[in-house]
Amino acid sequence: MPNSIEGILASYDDRAALSDASTIPAPWYVDSRIAELERLNVFSRTWQLVARTDQVQRPGDFISTVVAGEPVVVVRGSDGVLRAFYNVCRHHAAAVVTQPCGQATGLQCPYHGWKYGLDGSLKGMPVLDGVKNFDRAQNGLVPIRVETWECFVFVNLDDAAVPLPEFLGRLVPRVAPLGIGRLHYFDRRTYDIACNWKVFVDNYLDGGYHVPHLHKGLSSVLDYKQYTIENEDRYCLQSSPMVSSDEDAATGATRKGDRAWYFWQYPNLMINCYEGYMDTNYVIPVDADHCRVVFDFYFGDVSEARRSYNTDSVNVGNRVQEEDLGICEDVQRGLKSRAYGAGRLSVRREAGEQLFHRLLAADLKRYVSTPAVAAD
Ligand code: FES
Ligand SMILES: [Fe+2]
Repeated sequence: MPNSIEGILASYDDRAALSDASTIPAPWYVDSRIAELERLNVFSRTWQLVARTDQVQRPGDFISTVVAGEPVVVVRGSDGVLRAFYNVCRHHAAAVVTQPCGQATGLQCPYHGWKYGLDGSLKGMPVLDGVKNFDRAQNGLVPIRVETWECFVFVNLDDAAVPLPEFLGRLVPRVAPLGIGRLHYFDRRTYDIACNWKVFVDNYLDGGYHVPHLHKGLSSVLDYKQYTIENEDRYCLQSSPMVSSDEDAATGATRKGDRAWYFWQYPNLMINCYEGYMDTNYVIPVDADHCRVVFDFYFGDVSEARRSYNTDSVNVGNRVQEEDLGICEDVQRGLKSRAYGAGRLSVRREAGEQLFHRLLAADLKRYVSTPAVAAD
């Protein structure tokens, strides 16, 4: 196995037909230099989900988060405009917003009290009389691009990136008929997993290959043989007709409808829909060996009367997730073994994984050959 970053990148053949293709090689999942390259050239350049639109609906609503290691705040201005900024004070770099979400009339840094408007402009700096050559207008919070789609808020740290609708491409009309905007947020579960973020994505994109083996409950409501896989632009849709089953009562009761819809959008967002149900999975790389996955659950009816049904449904999702979690951690250990280099792909099932690996390879190879960019 090569050891230089160029050698590691070159060891994946992104032009091979699916019938000849292998996965990206093991070092891509375990080498911290690849993780850093991904932070700079994938997560700092793609549209990243940061909030729900209902969290930033009213003037003064804000959320704060971290994207590709950068502190970010998204805030609705008094003029109704949604804006995003680096959550970094222009004085001595403290985080201006320290709560994950809330309501404010202005933003005040907790360190020395510098005040910013909801539009990011610098409004006040205590005890700075006598400072010369300081242009207040040039010292507002540094803006970041923000756009919304359906009920989701995205930011992009790259000023040169394509607009969100172009990035999402055909995913937009493909998701539209499902009417996810009619659903309401219900609950969140967060999982810290000892595996590379790509192991989690690969597991998601194996076209149901693992479902009959790992998820017996879920398997009972899916028509595995009819499972379809559709690759387009930067998304993969895996879909399966639903069958009624009394094999697993909780799954049968909470996973309904004609079809299951599993969308993955490059690089790290999944949207899973059944009738009256959606969960989103947002995969955050922590380091080469760890990721965090945030599941948000939405339902058509979130009234009190429906609470226990919805909770049962979240618990079914949680059980599937626990089943995935163990295998992902096992895979991460295997990827470090001297016995493993790369694996072949099932032509019937694993086209989505190949799309993922090709998109990732294109991004990493494109920017690694541009020193000015790789170094920024
Ligand atoms: S770091 Fe924000 S006021 Fe000093
Ligand atoms: Fe799974």
